[in-house]
Amino acid sequence: MTQPPIPAHALPVVARAPGKCILFGEHAVVRGQPEVLLAIDLYTQVAIRPSPEWRLNGHAGPVADHRYLQTAIREVWTTGTPLDVTAVSRIPKASGMGSSAAFVSGLVAAMGAVQGGVDRATLAQQVFTIEREAQGVGSPGDTSAAIAGGYLTLNTDVAAVGEALWTVTAGEERWTVRRIADPGWVWVVAYSGLPKATGPKVQAVGERFSSWEGPDLLRRFSEVAVAGLRAMAQEDRTETGRLLEENQRLLREVGVSHPRLEALIEATQPAAVGAKVTGAGGGGSIVALPKPGQETDLVRRLARAGAVPFATGPAARGVELV
Ligand code: PMV
Repeated sequence: MTQPPIPAHALPVVARAPGKCILFGEHAVVRGQPEVLLAIDLYTQVAIRPSPEWRLNGHAGPVADHRYLQTAIREVWTTGTPLDVTAVSRIPKASGMGSSAAFVSGLVAAMGAVQGGVDRATLAQQVFTIEREAQGVGSPGDTSAAIAGGYLTLNTDVAAVGEALWTVTAGEERWTVRRIADPGWVWVVAYSGLPKATGPKVQAVGERFSSWEGPDLLRRFSEVAVAGLRAMAQEDRTETGRLLEENQRLLREVGVSHPRLEALIEATQPAAVGAKVTGAGGGGSIVALPKPGQETDLVRRLARAGAVPFATGPAARGVELV
């Protein structure tokens, strides 16, 4: 499914973008390895209006220190007119569910609409450039999911994958983003309540990837992600669950799990075919694939274990004007 471009629209503009959940390949994707993820049914809505001065949620104070907003103003807002930017989000912050990517995607899509409209490939590059500049590290997985919606894979070119949507670059690095089929499953994503910090985790794992064991680790991450992609293409739930567990063993090995996340993974067991950390880790969220018909039970178990769980299918559409 090709998504239409963001059309031209005069101020005020409201855009909304979905969060994301990584199923396979986080961290290794930063080094150009395969990743599999989906846009999830939780959104950030961003409104921009003319204003006598720059404001964020009605206040001028936070604007100067907001790295994402400052970078977006510098990178894409060519008209120079100050705006009042209002954001409302259902995506928990620093949870590994892509709240910053959804905010920047909504903001830049809204800015693009005012500046004559923008196609999604351009938007994918702009939003990634802003995220990368503000965050210092990272891959375009989150931003691409917020822009494209649905299920995506990065850096895979195997029989199971569909349409290539775009290639996004940062200097010499490149990531190709493709759409994959929806296996038709409900996922349960559960926030541990522990905020995570992407930058330090990506740095720490990056050091492991640069060490003597790096090539072997990257190969194992890649193999699990490609096998996961194939299992999903065959709608093989049991095998996908087994591969989620295998991916979790690798995430543990590179040090991004946490006792709290392990306890949540443990709590999913009777009702899930597999579960793992999703996102940068060290806190944040887990994702679990329920056994058929056990979605509600899984949500209940995770809530009882103290997490904030969401049952979600894919958000079929990426960022759009509302
Ligand atoms: O935890 P999040 O939502 O910031 O996801 C990070 C995913 C990484 O692969 C660790 C980094 C990236 O940008 O791909």
